[in-house]
Amino acid sequence: MSARLVVLASGAGSTLGAVLDAVASGQLPAEVVAVGSDRPGCPALARAEAAGVPTFAVPLSQFADRADWNLAFARALADHRPDLVVCAGFMRVFGPSVVHRFRIVNTHPALLPAFKGWHGVRDALDAGVKVTGCTVHVARLEVDDGPILAQEAVPVLDGDTVETLHERIKAVERRLYPEVLRTLAEADEPVASKEETG
Ligand code: GRF
Repeated sequence: MSARLVVLASGAGSTLGAVLDAVASGQLPAEVVAVGSDRPGCPALARAEAAGVPTFAVPLSQFADRADWNLAFARALADHRPDLVVCAGFMRVFGPSVVHRFRIVNTHPALLPAFKGWHGVRDALDAGVKVTGCTVHVARLEVDDGPILAQEAVPVLDGDTVETLHERIKAVERRLYPEVLRTLAEADEPVASKEETG
C-alpha cells in the first residue's frame, strides 16, 4: 500500500508542485491525500485544487490561542490518516499536540544547523558565506531542529540577492525533497519515529 502523505504549505507552493509532479510521474510511490495550510486562499492551495487534491485550511486567527489552533490542526490532519506529514514551505511552528502525534518532515533553505528560522536565506547572505543550501529533516518541537535526512550545497554567487539565491535553493529543494520522500515512502516506517513525549 502506498504511503499517505499530507503536504502542508503557506505560500507559492512550488515545492508542493514538485511533490505532486513526482507522485504523478511515478517517481514517488505515494499518495498525496490532502494539502493543508494556515492561509486560506494561498497559491499552494489553489495548486492542490487544480490537481484534484482535497485541501483544508486552519488559520491561526480563528483560534483563541496557539494551543487551540494546534488541537484543531491535529484534528484536521488526523481526518486524513497520514503516514507522513510533509511541510513544504509551511510557515508556522507546531506545538506538542501535533509534533507528538504525527511523523513530520520539513525542508529548510539553509544548511542546518546554520541559519535556522524564517530568514535562513537572508541570514546566510548577510553572514557572507560562500556556500549555503537546503536541508530535509525530521521536524521536532524546536524550530528547524531534528535529525537531518539530506542536505545539498548551493554556492552563493557574486551579486546574489535574497530572491536570486532563494530561487536557486528552491530549484534544488524541488529535486531533493521528492527523492528523500521516495526513500521514506519505501521504508517500512516513513520516518524513524515520532518525537517521544516526556
Ligand atoms: C522553500 O525554500 C522552503 O524551504 C521554505 O519556503 C520555500 C517554499 O517555497 N520553507 P514554495 O512556496 O514551495 O515555492
